[in-house]
Amino acid sequence: MRLPNPVYVTKTYLPNKEKYMQYIDKIYESNRITNYGILVKTLEQRLCEFLGVKNVVLTSSGTAALEIAYRTLGIKGFAITTPFSFVATTSSLVTNGILPIFADINPKDFNIDPQNIKKYITKNATAIVPVHVFGNPCKVEEIESISREYNLKVIYDAAHIFGVKYNGKTILEFGDISVLSFHATKIFHTIEGGALVINDEKLVQKARYLINFGIQDEEHIPELGINAKMNEFEAAMGLCMLDDIDVIIKNTKNIWELYKKELKGYVEFQKLTPNTAYNYAYFPVLFKDETQLLKVKKALNEQNIFPRRYFYPSLDTLSYIEPKQECQISRDISKRILCLPIFSELSECVQYQIIELLRNNL
Ligand SMILES: Cc1ncc(COP(=O)(O)O)c(C=O)c1O
Repeated sequence: MRLPNPVYVTKTYLPNKEKYMQYIDKIYESNRITNYGILVKTLEQRLCEFLGVKNVVLTSSGTAALEIAYRTLGIKGFAITTPFSFVATTSSLVTNGILPIFADINPKDFNIDPQNIKKYITKNATAIVPVHVFGNPCKVEEIESISREYNLKVIYDAAHIFGVKYNGKTILEFGDISVLSFHATKIFHTIEGGALVINDEKLVQKARYLINFGIQDEEHIPELGINAKMNEFEAAMGLCMLDDIDVIIKNTKNIWELYKKELKGYVEFQKLTPNTAYNYAYFPVLFKDETQLLKVKKALNEQNIFPRRYFYPSLDTLSYIEPKQECQISRDISKRILCLPIFSELSECVQYQIIELLRNNL
């Protein structure tokens, strides 16, 4: 039966309206709506506690946070990165004059393969930019040892990994900087927004200048910055979300587990990193070939259900990347992967409809 309303890959969680309005009242009372206001400061503190990290710098988006991370660390030349990600991982490098060099992924866990990183290390390479794809931790120890051996900075695109624990601890303190996205499509969001988790205390201040035009105070502008500040309305949304995040993750976990049980043997799944407590924000499935994927997608679309070809296309095919590069594994996976709808409010009835449609259209 065709659903009356479209079901997308995710649905933005909206917290209790009265609670949000209480924060909005405070903003109106203070008349301060941006420029590192009290709610942004409060959210930074609460995120430090929730995530178990020392420093959080909030930004206007995840993409802005990536750009600030490169500027904070002074990345130049080449950065070795993954072709299997959202376009912002690569485009943020290019807009900062850094050439992305793509190291192919592991076909099972979909993350950058550390062995491939090594193949591309030259004297011009200054950084590694891996992505914890779909919240699945990268091989962080191997990446750490490569970065030490070759003196490379590591910036993790951690857009998907909010709240994930690895070996009982935060994953965000690996590398020099981890970058989160708090876009409305993410499991934890601030409408638009992002954050930097910076491990070197000395760099935190620099990042704060960089998100505010490089300004230190009324008379000093020590850095070349941009405007990448989060505002108070976004921080208010984040504070409300944080109250509900444990319940959101618990609900998505149930949905994730049902997909896993019912689709086993029909499609392939992402190989998960051991010793990890996930956030269950994504449910990617891998088909035998692109024809099969397109058939399932069409059948779902006809019933008003819109899974997402996430990530497609592989970033090594972007027209603006020169010189041309080719990552066979990423290209192959990109053509065969589909992320199924998963969000806290997805009903079991609709979920079973998705499962049935997938199974019947292979
Ligand atoms: C892996 C990855 N990196 C970066 C971004 C960019 O984040 P934002 O949309 O907050 O700019 C996203 C957002 O969707 C993402 O999925």
